[in-house]
Amino acid sequence: MTPVEEEVLRLVRGWGTLSADEVIDLALYSEGGFYAGSGRAGRRGDFLTSPEVGPLFGVLVGRALDGWWRDLDRPDPFVVVEAGAGTGTLARSVLAAEPECSPALRWVCVERSAALRTQAASALPMEPPAHVLGGAAGGGPVVTVLDDLPAGPFTGVVLGNELLDNLPPVIVERTAGGWAEVRVGEDHGRLVEVLAPSPEMTRAAERWAPGASVGSRVPLARQAARWLAQARASLEAGWVVCVDYGAATTAELGERGFDGWLRTYRAHGRGGGWLEGLGTQDITCDVPADQLQPSTIEPQAAWLRWLGIDALAAESRGTWHERAAIGDLAALRARSLVAEAQALTDEAGLGAFLVLTWPGGPTPEGTRTA
Ligand SMILES: C[S@@+](CC[C@H](N)C(=O)[O-])C[C@H]1O[C@@H](n2cnc3c(N)ncnc32)[C@H](O)[C@@H]1O
Repeated sequence: MTPVEEEVLRLVRGWGTLSADEVIDLALYSEGGFYAGSGRAGRRGDFLTSPEVGPLFGVLVGRALDGWWRDLDRPDPFVVVEAGAGTGTLARSVLAAEPECSPALRWVCVERSAALRTQAASALPMEPPAHVLGGAAGGGPVVTVLDDLPAGPFTGVVLGNELLDNLPPVIVERTAGGWAEVRVGEDHGRLVEVLAPSPEMTRAAERWAPGASVGSRVPLARQAARWLAQARASLEAGWVVCVDYGAATTAELGERGFDGWLRTYRAHGRGGGWLEGLGTQDITCDVPADQLQPSTIEPQAAWLRWLGIDALAAESRGTWHERAAIGDLAALRARSLVAEAQALTDEAGLGAFLVLTWPGGPTPEGTRTA
């Protein structure tokens, strides 16, 4: 048994059952959890996220930040909170691209994993949080790292690349008798799924997937909705922007099938069942966008095209053709950028990710989030 499995079994023996989101939370973030290991750097080694494909994603995020900064009338300070910052790769490439907003930029890496915070701090020149969040103008860009979202209120942007999929969902299943919550219990010393009736989860499931067929499962993005409310409340002006894989509707995920939307990853490939080897594999959930009520939603490929990725790729293709015979650093950089642009806009991969935005400020009364 892994240390996380032992801990889950101990808790199950005390409580009877645990909810799936509690178990996934322990599997990812407790001592012995997937993101606690100091050897792990985000998903590097398992699969690449957009910032890890290369510096191009950071160049384009820098352009997007400049656009939002201009829309906000060029505030100084301009606070960018990067939630789920991992090892700080995106921060490094945005800062290296020197966007126009740089002198006003206060970049706050927020990372739940202490091991990854330490790696980010060794990769970026970090300043004390009070210095970065103190409110004085000029002197940017400056960077700090925290374990949770700062309270604010700030003017700026809260960014999350592949964060929401790592916020554990509640799992519900449509049974012949109605909806049931998938919880975790014990059978002769083994951790097993247990279906438990839950009026609260039934109401939520009926709202988001009323037509689901018997046997189908859907996620309820409770933790993601709580995180989003906190992120929006930290902004007095600006936007929350999340890039992630998912679907426009919960019903689509129900049709995709349980192992189509709750996936595990371990060392270069798909992992085992979600209850197997707790703590040794990443567990990720496709984002049900309808439950989070974004004000805009578009595929990453379209967003990056709007930010000018095609022109950058065409320019690099020209440089590569001119300099391929010379084979110098400029030629190699150009070739690598062309490959990055292809990967970031691949309709069967990163290009199909969803870019979701919400305005800053408290979540309006009556908003029907999860
Ligand atoms: C899949 S990784 C993405 C890392 C990075 N954004 C990237 O795109 O390469 C998700 C990260 O979110 C972190 N995380 C999960 N929940 C968090 C939370 N509530 N606040 C901050 N970080 C969180 C995890 O520890 C992990 O490093």
